[in-house]
Amino acid sequence: MKTRLIFLLLFSVTLCAQSQQSLIPRPESCVLGSGTFVLGDNPVVECADAGLRGMADSLQAQLRSLGFPGGQKSGQITCRVQNSVEGQDESYRIVVKENKAMLEASSRTGLFRAGQTFLQMLRAGNGKVRACRIDDAPRYGWRGFMVDESRHFFGKEKILQYLDIMAALKMNVFHWHLTDEPGWRIEIKRYPKLTAQGAVGNWHDAGAPARFYTQDDIREIVAYAQARHIMVVPEFDMPGHATAVCRAYPEVSGGGEGRWKHFTFHPCKAETYDFIGNILDELFRLFPSPYIHIGGDEVHFGNQTWFTDAEIQRFIEENKLVNETGLEHYFLRRVADMVARKGRKVIVWDEAIDAGISPEKAVIMWWRHDRKHQLLKALEKGYRVIMTPRRPLYADFNQDASHKYGRVWDGYNAMENVYAFPEPVLHLARGYEKQLMGLQMSLWTERIADAKRLDYMAFPRLAAVAEDAWTPETGKDFSRFMQRLPLFLDYLDGLGVYYYNPFNPSATPEPAGPQKAAAEQ
Ligand code: ACM
Repeated sequence: MKTRLIFLLLFSVTLCAQSQQSLIPRPESCVLGSGTFVLGDNPVVECADAGLRGMADSLQAQLRSLGFPGGQKSGQITCRVQNSVEGQDESYRIVVKENKAMLEASSRTGLFRAGQTFLQMLRAGNGKVRACRIDDAPRYGWRGFMVDESRHFFGKEKILQYLDIMAALKMNVFHWHLTDEPGWRIEIKRYPKLTAQGAVGNWHDAGAPARFYTQDDIREIVAYAQARHIMVVPEFDMPGHATAVCRAYPEVSGGGEGRWKHFTFHPCKAETYDFIGNILDELFRLFPSPYIHIGGDEVHFGNQTWFTDAEIQRFIEENKLVNETGLEHYFLRRVADMVARKGRKVIVWDEAIDAGISPEKAVIMWWRHDRKHQLLKALEKGYRVIMTPRRPLYADFNQDASHKYGRVWDGYNAMENVYAFPEPVLHLARGYEKQLMGLQMSLWTERIADAKRLDYMAFPRLAAVAEDAWTPETGKDFSRFMQRLPLFLDYLDGLGVYYYNPFNPSATPEPAGPQKAAAEQ
């Protein structure tokens, strides 16, 4: 009996210590103390500031729904926002003592992040947390996740679930790729054909029924994200990747050829810019983010008509734009100016570095991993940069050598490579560290047609990206991360998310990706 008691005691101390040791992302500092906090029946989150009541109530509801066996009084939980916590806006402190937990931060966002840490510790410790003091702050301000819903559409429930998981991982930007060749996915009141026609089809089936988000859906998703202190940044890709728009409104099409038919906006017509301006106005009403992503990538795929169209050639000459690339840059500058006049900034893929947009008006998203000089060039030109290089941060790449349906390019994106980022490129940014806004995982969906495969490609790699973006280099260690990962996998199990299990790959076979009809390749 005595031995059993000692064992139980030791076991519960280990559990409590584990609850801090299982945190993803790993906090900046965690010092263990003595004593234990126990989450008992009907925990109450106290806060003196009436302005925090909503947040405290929401944390309280989540604590109550954890569902650990009760039978005893809960420890006291207090939260407050005050100025004594130094550092960035999202920093926070948690002090846990015998049956007392204090969550404090210098901002509401910091307090929200503290709540997520506290929930994670309780989940890991089965309702118990060993006394500790955690001081934490993010490494980067941009900790993003991009999902492409133009190639395939996954719908509101999946996106809301991803926002919950992002919040748990302290990620703070959802980049939503909503427009591209296969489909336009946003209801725009002024241009109903964008959804009636532009939302028809997906990457593997050009005739698939229209799928898109209504403006009410978007408002709901943006509010859901805001409650989790996540910013939603929509992408309206232009002047290329505009096929779905140009299919619906050929009067703004700038042509394209073969596989890339109708790929571009018409770059010279005043009508094109009016059309884009009207869409932007509706987007700005839906998305409060200070940023809008306007793409700017891969225009050369489908701008063949620009080389032969007499009106376009005359425009290049009259405006001294030199050539078609000059015209592409003119287009991007003109739209960046329109966006700046509305008080927002554009985000552009790294092709746009040479477009001559003022760094006050644009942020560069570096994606071409094989063109590392683009990262340095963007920094030298004074741009702030978000890093999402294909290798290792594109999640449509395979994560294991045995996988068949994802992308491969000089290798694949194994968890270990994802976790190693951004250290391998940081030497390029030496002296420009302040211009690095952060990093994101980008999940393109040409090879992903259903939610099961979407989950499989996102997880668990998103956890590694979250730690890359939050935890300072000195706190990162891959083998320790892998030791912490099983508790995150348990959390995914609870949500019904199908993931790749790196500890037992054969138990989680790869779901097949879509095949395109031969005629469409
Ligand atoms: C991209 O992957 N085309 C940004």
